[in-house]
Amino acid sequence: MSAQIIDGKAIAAKVTDKVAIGVQARKDKGLRVPGLAVVLVGGDPASQIYVQSKRRTCEKVGFTSKAFDLPATTSQQDLLTLIDELNEDSTIDGILVQFPLPEGLDETSVIERIKPSKDVDGFHPYNVGRLAQRIPLLRSCTPRGMITMLESINIDLHGKHAVVVGASNIVGRPMTLELLLAGCTTTTCHRFTKDLEYHVRQAEILVVARGKANFIPGDWIREGAVVLDVGINRLENGKITGDVDFETAKEKAAWISPVPGGVGPMTVATLIENTLFACNEYHS
Ligand code: GUN
Repeated sequence: MSAQIIDGKAIAAKVTDKVAIGVQARKDKGLRVPGLAVVLVGGDPASQIYVQSKRRTCEKVGFTSKAFDLPATTSQQDLLTLIDELNEDSTIDGILVQFPLPEGLDETSVIERIKPSKDVDGFHPYNVGRLAQRIPLLRSCTPRGMITMLESINIDLHGKHAVVVGASNIVGRPMTLELLLAGCTTTTCHRFTKDLEYHVRQAEILVVARGKANFIPGDWIREGAVVLDVGINRLENGKITGDVDFETAKEKAAWISPVPGGVGPMTVATLIENTLFACNEYHS
């Protein structure tokens, strides 16, 4: 069997088209367009690429995008002061501070400073807690984007055994909460997991967010599984590859997301979706 491809790029395009329609609907009612502040501290090359893509997508759907490019020497206090200003800015619906921050800056206090109603990354403990208690509002972009991908292939998630490899605050943990909310039986694997292969072999839904090229061999994949690969790894030859060995995994899986063009585009699309949600629900 050769797996069907979950085309994240195409699904993301549909999401952003829908957001553009929502922006036009606001304009038609004489309301202001949503505004997203995108803050980049320092010059991390990967972060620069992600931030560019977020700003470009904002413009494409008709948002206003405010760019803040701060030097790596920015102090914690100056960053928190900027967040305070953006929290009070009535033209801004979402505040995104790109991570990782340069050494010496504390990400947790940055996340906690952003008003939960402007936390379009869905990282604030208030929003993560809402998801944990089955009353989600703003949801972390990559996990929520993966749920949109699963919805697009119309599979019933209730009672499915989902295995998440990786337990980060940005992807693994909130993805486990999303899958639990969707009715899956969930297993989360992390650095202390004893027999990773055993758990991966059980997975009807497999999400891998490890950040290591070809970390999961294809023969570990359960026959007929749905595989979502969050990894974006650059090989020595410049090629981008995921955390799952795609060529062998696609012979076992029923559905698989490619890298590039899989989960990656969904993160940006969901951020844009979250910003329109914040604008309509909280700040209209
Ligand atoms: N760094 C890697 N992924 C993300 C994300 O989704 N949001 C932010 N702010 N930083 C990131």
